[in-house]
Amino acid sequence: MRRRLLLLSLAARRSSVSLQPRWGRRCCCCCAPASVRGPSGSPPGRRLLSTPIFYANGSPHIGHLYSALLADALHRHRQLHERGGRLATGTDEHGLKIQMTAAAAGSLPQHFCDRVSAEFRGLFAQAGISYTDFIRTTEPRHRRAVEHFWATLRDRGWLYRANYEGWYCTAEETFLAASQVTECPDTQGNRHTVSLESGHQVHWTKEENYMFKLSEFREPLLRWLQESRLTVTPEPFYQQVLQWLKQDLPDLSVSRDRNRLQWGIPVPGDSTQTIYVWVDALVNYLTVVGYPEAHHDWWPAACHIVGKDILKFHVIYWPALLMAAGLDPPEQIFVHSHWTVQGQKMSKSLGNVVDPRACFQQYTVDGFRYFLLRQGVPDRDCDYYDEKVIKLVNSELADVLGGLLNRCTAPSLNPSGTYPRFSEACFPRAVGTQNRKGLGKASTEDYKLVSSVKELPLQVSSYFEGFQVYKALESIVDCARQTNGFMQRHKPWKLSREDPSQQQWLDTILHVTLECLRIYGLLLQPVIPTIADKLLSRLGVGPSERSLRTLTFLSRYQDEQCPFEGRYLGPDTGLLFPKLEKPKARNHGGL
Ligand code: ME8
Ligand code: MG
Repeated sequence: MRRRLLLLSLAARRSSVSLQPRWGRRCCCCCAPASVRGPSGSPPGRRLLSTPIFYANGSPHIGHLYSALLADALHRHRQLHERGGRLATGTDEHGLKIQMTAAAAGSLPQHFCDRVSAEFRGLFAQAGISYTDFIRTTEPRHRRAVEHFWATLRDRGWLYRANYEGWYCTAEETFLAASQVTECPDTQGNRHTVSLESGHQVHWTKEENYMFKLSEFREPLLRWLQESRLTVTPEPFYQQVLQWLKQDLPDLSVSRDRNRLQWGIPVPGDSTQTIYVWVDALVNYLTVVGYPEAHHDWWPAACHIVGKDILKFHVIYWPALLMAAGLDPPEQIFVHSHWTVQGQKMSKSLGNVVDPRACFQQYTVDGFRYFLLRQGVPDRDCDYYDEKVIKLVNSELADVLGGLLNRCTAPSLNPSGTYPRFSEACFPRAVGTQNRKGLGKASTEDYKLVSSVKELPLQVSSYFEGFQVYKALESIVDCARQTNGFMQRHKPWKLSREDPSQQQWLDTILHVTLECLRIYGLLLQPVIPTIADKLLSRLGVGPSERSLRTLTFLSRYQDEQCPFEGRYLGPDTGLLFPKLEKPKARNHGGL
């Protein structure tokens, strides 16, 4: 397993192919010599994780929260391994969509964005998103970065002026080919042209724009993607991008007429044009690491977490733009699917948008974090409904995890309130594949449990780094269930403390169970930080004993000292996770 992890991370690093020699002309300041950098071009520990920057045109919903939670869990997991790194998030504030939404609300675009951006910040604070950087595309530092990026593209000869004609979808801020649109009647029977993928209306646009020579990047993009399959994860999305690249890759219009779009960054040296919002938005990943002066230490060791609807922008446009600017593409792109609500796409017109703040109120912050990360499978769309949340968190957090903690801390079983002693005589070490059944009191299943929990941390880490947080959680719960089975099998409540040999076995059962719980608590920190803290505090695990890098499990079984043995448990602060009641009425907060 350790080997697999290493291979995983090596493969991930390999993906940052050096395209600089191919794209020859170095730009003035952004290309530090590769020799002074690490294998990924960045010093170890300097890895950037990012969420998409969220459109500031409406309140956050659970889909947005899910993007942010995946990134947060991964970031927290890396922090627990003491791997350092940054987590960037923010708001995408320019473009026609925001210009129009603000106008419709009778608001100045900047005021409108201030309000929505603050809503995202507020939600992320409540949700415990541990970001290190929050970027707004209306900040001066970002404007500088975008202007520099644009000037680099221009100076390197990748931009030209041309008459652009085509369909534009404002809702998605994207251009669409004729094959991507269809005619559709609205409720009044008027015919509209709409995007086949999103169903949003599109408009025919005809104007003189700056074009980016995207078509020249088909081959380099294919080479970059073929260097490492792990660049785009999960696999079906990787295959999808390869499919796209088999088709024609037309040049991309990267500016709009200023008369049409005022809310954006003007093209440097040409105030009649505004920079296309996606070019503006993508550059945010460079802005946060200090482009154009100070990004060398961080770029290209970046991992972008994105929803499937913005795959093309991150895996085709963004790497091509970077190559054109003389920079390497990002190391990894993790893609997730979407949440639907009772089988339907979430939309304001259907009135089924789920407000994360209402969910936090109903299910607690950690309960809801757990639900989204445990139930969300990046490969496919997931369906949301309230009953599912209650069932899952009650069963796994309250019954399995909470039940286990209750059992081994109950005064009737553990009257001294300590981490009891482990007896080797009761649980002798297994040698090779043989256990010492018959010598002690432990059964074959008990040995299986110990070996599953011993392997768990590495398995969990490999799931996290492979963008399968749901599988990490599944394997933790599976072990916790096995631990309940261990208790059930041996029924320590039937053992007597009066009899020394029974007492030794009773203490050993409690010791093993507490050790298992300690591991679950440590591994759950990235997903349910508050509950994990409560669990670890109850077990008497101090703040400096919570890192995954130095994690040990059942040292006494390995014939080593256990720092917890004999220690007092922490104070009892109540149930780990009080069971949730069924909601009386559905309330999504009136979004
Ligand atoms: O696309 N389920 O912003 P955005 C899961 N500004 N995720 C969902 C979702 C759902 N139902 N609906 C949306 C943008 N998302 C651009 C990004 S990055 C340089 C610019 C996800 O606010 C969506 O897939 O429309 C995306 O990852 C994120 O929310 C932001 O979407
Ligand atoms: Mg969107």
